[in-house]
Amino acid sequence: MDLSCEYVGLKLKNPIIVASSGLAENLKNMKKAEEHGAACVVVKSFFEERVCRISPTPRFEIIERKMGRLRSQTFYSFEQASPFEADEYFGEIRKAINTLSIPIIPSINCITDDGWKKYSKMAEQTGVPALELNVSCPHGSISFRGGDVEEKILSVARIVRDAVKIPLIVKLPMQLSSPLSMAKMLERMGINGIVMFNRLTGLDIDLESERPIMHGGYAGHGGPWTFNYVLRWIANSSPHLDLSIAASGGVGNGEDVVKYIYAGADVVEVCSLIYLVGYQAIDMLLEQIRSFMEKKSYSNFSQFRGKVSGKAILGNEEIDRRRLFKAKIDPVLCTSCGVCQNVCIYDAPYPSNKNYIIGDRCDGCGLCVKLCPTKAIKMVPWEDD
Ligand SMILES: Cc1cc2nc3c(=O)[nH]c(=O)nc-3n(C[C@H](O)[C@H](O)[C@H](O)COP(=O)(O)O)c2cc1C
Ligand code: SF4
Ligand code: SF4
Repeated sequence: MDLSCEYVGLKLKNPIIVASSGLAENLKNMKKAEEHGAACVVVKSFFEERVCRISPTPRFEIIERKMGRLRSQTFYSFEQASPFEADEYFGEIRKAINTLSIPIIPSINCITDDGWKKYSKMAEQTGVPALELNVSCPHGSISFRGGDVEEKILSVARIVRDAVKIPLIVKLPMQLSSPLSMAKMLERMGINGIVMFNRLTGLDIDLESERPIMHGGYAGHGGPWTFNYVLRWIANSSPHLDLSIAASGGVGNGEDVVKYIYAGADVVEVCSLIYLVGYQAIDMLLEQIRSFMEKKSYSNFSQFRGKVSGKAILGNEEIDRRRLFKAKIDPVLCTSCGVCQNVCIYDAPYPSNKNYIIGDRCDGCGLCVKLCPTKAIKMVPWEDD
C-alpha cells in the first residue's frame, strides 16, 4: 500500500504532518515525530514580537461543555511563540535538517513588513524545503488586530513571495469572508500551498474570580468540533485550486484523515490529538488509515482524493426533499422515559399502554432517534410503518 503524497513539490512518505506547535519546537521533539512515523514537521512559529516568546504557566486547559446530556471538549491553550531568538531558531532547524530525514518546514509570524522579509530570507538561507507563513495565529497575529484581514494577508504573502524563491504555504485563519477566494488570490500570486485552518481565538470566564481563566487573557481554542467546518471548506475549495492543501483541525483518528483526503486535501496537519495522547497518536493514525484503505481495497490516495468535493456535494436545487421517512419505536427497547416527547417540536410521540408510539404528525426530522437513551427509535420509510 502506497501512502505517499505530494505537498508543495515535496514527496512525503504519508499524509501526516505534525502541525506547528511545541510538538515540533526543538530537535528532540521533531525527532520523536519522525520516530513515530510523521512524514514532515512544521516547526513551532518564530514570532517577531519578543514578548510572545515566553509562555505563561499554566497554559493548557481542557474545557468541557454540556448541553443537555451531550458533552463537548475544547482544547484551550496559550502556548505562544517559539522561545528561541532568530539565530537559535534557525540554528535548531539546521541541526534538524542534518539529523533527520523528513522535511522540516519553519513557520514565521511577523508584525512588520521588514520582519516578514528578513525572517523569510533567513529561512531560505537555512536550506529549508518550504516555509509556512503564520498569518493566523490566535494570539496576536495580524488577523486579530482589526483592519482588513484579507488585505493584510495578501500584502504579507506578496512581500514574502517577492523576497524568497522557496515554496510558500500560507496558514489561513477560519475567520475569512471567503476562504476559497482568498486561496485563489494566493494561488495567482504564486503561493504554493495553504493550510486550512489555524485555530480560533476564544475566552472563558472564571465566575469565582470574575476574570478570564488561566493567564487572564484570550486563548487559542479548538478541538474535535472544528473538524466539520474545515472539511466543508476543503471540499468546497479543492476542485477550484491547483495549489497544495493541508487540512488542519480536529483530527481525532485515521478516519478523519481519510475524510480530509476525500474532500481533496493533499496532506493533514495534526496537533491537539498528539498533545492529548502523545506522539504514538501518529502510529495510530497511520495504522487506521492503512486499515481503512485495506477494507476499501484502495492502494493509494489518488483512488479517492477529492471524491467527496465540489459537484459531489448536493446543492439546494438537487437535494431530495420528499417526506420519505418517519420515526418508529421498538416497544421492546422503549423504557417510557419520555425524552422523545419532550424534544419533538411536532408533538408526534405519545404514551400508549406501557410504551411510547409515534403518530402521523411525525415530520421525519430524525432528532428523537439521536436522543433516545435506549436507541429504541429508527427511521423507517412511511410505507413500512
Ligand atoms: C498548543 C498549541 C500550540 C500551537 N502553536 C502554533 C504555532 O506556533 N503556530 C501555528 O501556526 N499554529 C499553532 N497551533 C495550531 C496548530 O498548528 C493546528 O493548526 C491547530 O491546532 C489545528 O489542528 P488540531 O485540531 O489538530 O490541533 C498550535 C496549536 C496548539 C494546540
Ligand atoms: S426516548 Fe426512547 S426510551 Fe424514551 S420514551 Fe422515547 S422511545 Fe421510549
Ligand atoms: S422524527 Fe422528528 S418529528 Fe418524528 S417523532 Fe422524532 S422528533 Fe418528532
